[in-house]
Amino acid sequence: MAGKKYCIGIEGTAHTAGIGIVDEKCGVLANERHAFTTIEGGLIPRELAEHHAEKMPELARAALEKSGIGWGEISCVAFSSGPGIGAPLSVAATTARMLSLLHNKPLVAVNHCVAHIEIAKKKCGSKNPLTLYVSGGNSQVIGLESGRYRVYGETLDIGVGNLLDSFGREIGLGFPAGPEIDRMFFEAEKYVQLPYSVKGMDVNFSGLLTAAKQKIPAENKKDLAFSVMHTAYAMLVEVTERALAHTGKKELLLTGGVASSKALQKMCAEMCAARGVKLNVCPHEFATDNGAMIAWNGMQKFLAGKTVKPEKAVPEQRFRTDAEKVVWI
Ligand code: FE2
Repeated sequence: MAGKKYCIGIEGTAHTAGIGIVDEKCGVLANERHAFTTIEGGLIPRELAEHHAEKMPELARAALEKSGIGWGEISCVAFSSGPGIGAPLSVAATTARMLSLLHNKPLVAVNHCVAHIEIAKKKCGSKNPLTLYVSGGNSQVIGLESGRYRVYGETLDIGVGNLLDSFGREIGLGFPAGPEIDRMFFEAEKYVQLPYSVKGMDVNFSGLLTAAKQKIPAENKKDLAFSVMHTAYAMLVEVTERALAHTGKKELLLTGGVASSKALQKMCAEMCAARGVKLNVCPHEFATDNGAMIAWNGMQKFLAGKTVKPEKAVPEQRFRTDAEKVVWI
């Protein structure tokens, strides 16, 4: 292993505490994680921070053990600096600063959304895709243009995963509701009319959520779940298709926790087939929040010389996808 470079990456933007280790070719040596979960659903920032603070030491130990390498071989420490929830972000940044100072390793601050795209591209062999990144907190249509990941469209309020989890909680599903609600898509018998909200290239989901909640007593749960998904996904597919037409890109890359939705994959596949666009879906392990994606974009930035001093390694809750120059491509 002499001469090889390794990056350890720390994820902590929301419910997942994750630590991954990758080499300079995106070989993943370890990808350990533990997600905060509750029966009632919902994320309380202080509880997330406590969860992450408790789990980080054991995740770091497990990742190193699994990787078979020691601190002497690690080249840099990367962490998700944002966007995300302040309290758990602080735990990720503090863990990274502490490990960096303790082991005398350079630090790299990583944008969580960009990290999702970069590992998805690598794992799917995708070169220049339009990305639909869909998760609990984020829903964005993103493409690389003139040195930045440009956001062509996005949610103006809640992420589509948040919509599904909130609706799932109302019909008695636990958190996360995604897998169970996704099955209902294929078992429904009729569409229930719900508000469809596309504004230019952006979407919003809170009106849809309110309307769906109001219809719970009167409608069959499966039909309503199907209708929530069908409406929300149709909104996302519409703006994604327009971004494909605008950019002329020939690949669509689906990533984020909601990328695992078979219903969303089906609707994207139909649109892509009609346009002659190739659809790639990021493997689940690397599509949901994880440490390896932070480690991989950390490695890319480290190789491009983009390190930060420990005193500058602070959370950026509103770190925009298009805020940083993509110097590593
Ligand atoms: Fe994410």
